Amino acid sequence: MAEIEVGSVEELPPGSMRLVPAGALTIGVFNCAGALYAIEDRCSHDDGPLCEGDWEPELCIVVCPRHGARFDLQTGIPMTLPAFESVPTYPVSVREDGVIVLEVPD
Ligand code: FES
Repeated sequence: MAEIEVGSVEELPPGSMRLVPAGALTIGVFNCAGALYAIEDRCSHDDGPLCEGDWEPELCIVVCPRHGARFDLQTGIPMTLPAFESVPTYPVSVREDGVIVLEVPD
């Protein structure tokens, strides 16, 4: 696994999202009421830019802007059609120095 520094935890307050380049991937890191989640910015239905539309911080759900499938940010599991396959999620944590760290496959 490789570690990517996302920024300080103050820079990603509750209700915010940041897109993070990670090699060939782009990953959205979300702060849902203090809990951090990371999911690939690619919808499992038709490769839409999953993290670049609306999301619901109070429910920790992201809504694909292309056809409207809703995904659980914690698990990547789709909650509505037209998507039926999960989107990869990644471990994300806050280091002792307050920096958010994303773990992605090498
Ligand atoms: S590309 Fe996301 S729902 Fe179709």
